[in-house]
Amino acid sequence: MRVLVTEPIVDSAIKKLESHFEVSIGKRGEFDQEQTLSKAAEEFDAILTMLSNPVTGNVLEAGKNKLKIVANYAVGYNNIDTAAASRLGIHVSNTPDVLTESTAEIALSLLLSTARKTREAEISLRDGQFNGWEPNGFIGIELHGAAVGIIGLGRIGQAFAKRVKTCGMNIHYYGRNRIEPEIEKELNATFHSVLDDMLQVVDALSIHCPLTDETHHLIGKNELSIMPSHAVLVNTARGPIVDESALAEALHDASIGGAGLDVFENEPEIHPRLLDAPNTVLLPHIGSATEKSRNAMGSLAADAIISILNGTRPPNLVV
Ligand code: DGY
Repeated sequence: MRVLVTEPIVDSAIKKLESHFEVSIGKRGEFDQEQTLSKAAEEFDAILTMLSNPVTGNVLEAGKNKLKIVANYAVGYNNIDTAAASRLGIHVSNTPDVLTESTAEIALSLLLSTARKTREAEISLRDGQFNGWEPNGFIGIELHGAAVGIIGLGRIGQAFAKRVKTCGMNIHYYGRNRIEPEIEKELNATFHSVLDDMLQVVDALSIHCPLTDETHHLIGKNELSIMPSHAVLVNTARGPIVDESALAEALHDASIGGAGLDVFENEPEIHPRLLDAPNTVLLPHIGSATEKSRNAMGSLAADAIISILNGTRPPNLVV
């Protein structure tokens, strides 16, 4: 059987797949269009996809006679039309759990750098502007005792919450569902059923929910205007959850205090007004970029393909 890995990933996963199947590896970006992906869907029994690959209804339709599984190399699978996959009997898998800690680390790093303005301070120092300790320079938010609002207290949201709790932050959260009382108690977390109510009280906001029709532009002009003007926003989930133009405007108007972004609305494009926005840290979608996470992601994706092509059901199927 034939498996396509749409672009190079960790060797361990490729070797695992090669010990079972004939494996082709695409070039970076080669399968970021519907057309090339549709052709591949006609020819391969399984495709290991990246989050940049648009696995649309048309792609899945093209694969209906051959393709058995799309194994997404990510925990998020908003790039896949899961309704079409389900209708056509094509399985979809993702990579849950194995990038929880690595992504929470990047969220913490973005929170720290924006709250304490370390990027701005470092740039100024490299610019030769450091002329000794300054009483009024780079005054930021002290995390200890500050309030953080978390949108989506799922796996990654909770891992982030545990980290910020040890920094002494007070945790607030908003989501579709309230979490189990024991976890809420352990985190000393306050649930808000109305997002705007939470936004009024936060010094920092961190986004950890999936991108769906309901969460698209969940944070826009109105929401940003409700946040206190010193508050910072962190997004390590998916770019389109935030209206990027509204965010850029809020940063330039100083109606919010900063932003730490690992994801963008139209990756790999970056909104030009974010590039020169004050106190803004921009990372190239590196949440899961650790050796441990990437090897585990490869292993989960490869195992899902091996299981489906051998007629068994892997645990990480979303369809
Ligand atoms: C994911 O897994 O969804 C991340 O965005 C990339 O690792």
